[in-house]
Amino acid sequence: MSRDSFGSRFGALLAMAGSAVGLGNLWRFPYLVGENGGAAFIILYIILSFVICLPIFISEFVIGRRSQENAYSAFRDLSGGSAWRWVGLFTIFVPMVVLSYYSVIGGWSVEYLLKSCTFSFTVGISQAAINTFFVDFVSSTWGPLAAHTAFLLLTMLIVVVGIKDGIERFSKVMMPLLFLMVLSIAIYALTLPGAKAGVDYLFNPDFSKLTGKSCAAALGQAFFSLSLGFGTIMTYASYVDKKENILFHSTATAASDLMFALIAGLAIMPAVFAFGISPQAGPGLVFETLPYVFGQMPAGGLVAILFFLALLVAALTSSISMLEVAVAYLVEEKKIPRIWACVILFVICWVVGALCSLSFGPLSSVKIFGDGIFDFFDNLSSNILMTLGSLLTVLFVGWRLKKTDVYDEFTNGGTLSRSARIFGVLWFLIRYICPLAIAIIFLSGLF
Ligand code: PFF
Repeated sequence: MSRDSFGSRFGALLAMAGSAVGLGNLWRFPYLVGENGGAAFIILYIILSFVICLPIFISEFVIGRRSQENAYSAFRDLSGGSAWRWVGLFTIFVPMVVLSYYSVIGGWSVEYLLKSCTFSFTVGISQAAINTFFVDFVSSTWGPLAAHTAFLLLTMLIVVVGIKDGIERFSKVMMPLLFLMVLSIAIYALTLPGAKAGVDYLFNPDFSKLTGKSCAAALGQAFFSLSLGFGTIMTYASYVDKKENILFHSTATAASDLMFALIAGLAIMPAVFAFGISPQAGPGLVFETLPYVFGQMPAGGLVAILFFLALLVAALTSSISMLEVAVAYLVEEKKIPRIWACVILFVICWVVGALCSLSFGPLSSVKIFGDGIFDFFDNLSSNILMTLGSLLTVLFVGWRLKKTDVYDEFTNGGTLSRSARIFGVLWFLIRYICPLAIAIIFLSGLF
């Protein structure tokens, strides 16, 4: 049976961009920028994204496209059957961990979308009422579990249909829509009186705020945002046609991820500042501050629907990429039919996700190394598993694969002249600079 693949360049590009654009862009990037020196942080972020993260992205791309296999078989076959295959298995395990807790938050966005559709966040609702709603909701048992189930089911339903007809088709429709939704919110937010304070918060450069810690934060955010170290780029790349240009695909994905993060910042911060609120990061920003802001602004009911729909779509285009990594492995290595592979992984992620969900309520007293269950999985994957996955991947390409093979894959057999010209620099970055940079954020995450 022939292997499924992306049907078009545009589809492949949007699927990769979909994996990159997610909750990270909406709830962490704008806050990190504001807190770490505005435009100064953005410049640092762009440099790190293109000098450190792009070569890692390309390394994953090369592994996937060269092997045209799932992550496990790719590492095994490209290394001639050596122990490197366990690294492949590791990169399949990581997105499963992330998907489990990511789908809990995905579930919250389902709930908030439904709430917005009944116009619950409008007509001057108080901040206290919204905080109470949020805390009551996440600490209850059945509501969040039902929402988590719905989100995971949606993810599975898209993945089960396959690459071309499921993941690609969904991304082709939803990514342009997502972009339009967030762009319209940004344009609207910028017209609110007092919006300028939010723009200043994002873009006023303050180089004195750039510290070692903000460098580590920028690099960690860029990793998560570009889905590095999770096996997803590798897996998606294995479905990309051999004629495609790896440099183009990688740069376009990194650029669209960055552009989306900036537009998300312009959709969120001007609105928050226009109503005199100080921003926070993470769930607090999206599920407590913003609903209040929507309740204050003219036509806020509609903006709330657009925003939570955008949040859900952004989360879904990321979650499908996480699920596909393990599905590809089970289908190709274990010869399990796609539908059963999806069902098995659904059950595993549902159980782990349910524990994460309950850790905000009935299981809040359960601690793993001092953290609640949700925080434990979040910290474990963002601080340790993701960075370790990236480090091993980049070491594999730089030190295990043959330079001539990497060159051949990156330049399509020497036919892409621009790729051929920059290969020397890329090779140096992959072999020396990237492992060093990853080791630094890894250590800074541990201590
Ligand atoms: N890049 C996604 C975000 O910014 O939210 C998160 C993500 C997607 C992480 C896919 C890992 C992954 F495999």
